[in-house]
Amino acid sequence: MSARDVSTAEELVARDARVIAGVERLRFFPLVAISGNGEMLVEPGGRELLDLSASWTAAGFGYGNPAIVAAIAAAAANAPGASILSGTHPDAVALAEELLELVPARVPGRPRRVYLGHAGTDANDVALRGCRHATGRPGVLAFERGYHGGFGSAQGVSGVHVDAGATADPGAVFLPYPDPYRPHTGDASTVVDDVLEQAAATLALGTTAAVIVEPLQSDGGLIVPPPRFLSGLRALSDEHGAYLIVDEVKVGLGRTGRTHAFEHAGILPDVVTLGKALGNGMPLSAAVGPAEVLDEPAASALMTTIGNPISCAAGRAVLEIVRAGGATRNAHARGAQLRGLLEEYARSERPGAEHVGDVRGLGLSLGVELVVGRDDRTPAAQLTAKAAYRAWELGAVVYPVRGNVLELTPALTISATAIDHAAAIVAQAIDDASAGAVSDAQIEPYRGW
Ligand SMILES: Cc1ncc(COP(=O)(O)O)c(C=O)c1O
Repeated sequence: MSARDVSTAEELVARDARVIAGVERLRFFPLVAISGNGEMLVEPGGRELLDLSASWTAAGFGYGNPAIVAAIAAAAANAPGASILSGTHPDAVALAEELLELVPARVPGRPRRVYLGHAGTDANDVALRGCRHATGRPGVLAFERGYHGGFGSAQGVSGVHVDAGATADPGAVFLPYPDPYRPHTGDASTVVDDVLEQAAATLALGTTAAVIVEPLQSDGGLIVPPPRFLSGLRALSDEHGAYLIVDEVKVGLGRTGRTHAFEHAGILPDVVTLGKALGNGMPLSAAVGPAEVLDEPAASALMTTIGNPISCAAGRAVLEIVRAGGATRNAHARGAQLRGLLEEYARSERPGAEHVGDVRGLGLSLGVELVVGRDDRTPAAQLTAKAAYRAWELGAVVYPVRGNVLELTPALTISATAIDHAAAIVAQAIDDASAGAVSDAQIEPYRGW
């Protein structure tokens, strides 16, 4: 492995700080990359970093994926316009058709549409406003520590942002996302019933347009929904005439070991939103849902470059990979491998192991929750920030979510050898951080969330 070119990296970090807006920086260590390949990023000087985030899952099928690069290059060379606003082109129409094939219909035969957008944020925003318009109701039932976007209503129903000071959407009601490790009721066996009772009470008011939920709460702490939670929301939404929006932006398209994460719960949503890996790094998102939600008011969700041919070509190449199934199967197998290795570490006598409170997830969406000690579940947020920093020093990119959970979401194409390496670095980073290898001063400039 080559050495870091510290002078160039540090210079770039300093220039970045002078010119890039703080509102769009969420930094945990001085990451600088000059290129990427598969699950690896390359720093100035050539040091390789194993990216266990895949850019927050946006590069879900690997950097420089040859099939996707070829599709992008061909589309860019000969772009049939730049948008679908006032004309159409083959890749936009085909992408929408392919998404309708991939996302199962809740009610067979009922007309559906696809909104093509730039990011998870606008896909969720459009889904929310469409449900409000179609029902004439203002309310949205969302979840504490949920994440649906960084602007507009998608931000206003995101518990993560509201906790950090963003204005809550005036129609939003936030309920706890059932967390068996940290039960809000004090008893893991009652969390689902309690949340469903609260949801029933809110929905019974008849003012809720939509329930929006992550099928695995990611930025809120990698929380796998316990059985009966999503199916309970499905039943309650039906009973009270609210749409169920399932936000697959972060964990969809094979990441959990199934094509759609909602499949684990055996439900069918009314609206499904997709993003991040859909463009594998190109700006692309989608909302797939009933025509009555996504058609009206006509021409009311406009951005000049939506449905642009280059993003659409990337999306079609991604869907071809998804349909082939190998990446999804790999997510299942490599996820089980990584989880097994992390659990083995947690059971070991190594110095950091006593801080691993829980290892959880589905497929290649895994979380390692760090706590004060095996018998004390107090969140160890400072230790987590230091472990992420130390992992970067050791050669891996891993980000904390909800303060004390290391989120592991590598590319679905990752190899078994790279997973062994990933587990070794994460374990070493936790050991080192717990032994004091990273000072408070080192992480002080990185406020993260
Ligand atoms: C579940 C979920 N939905 C939506 C979004 C927003 O997507 P974007 O940042 O692409 O707008 C995110 C981003 O982290 C997410 O995790």
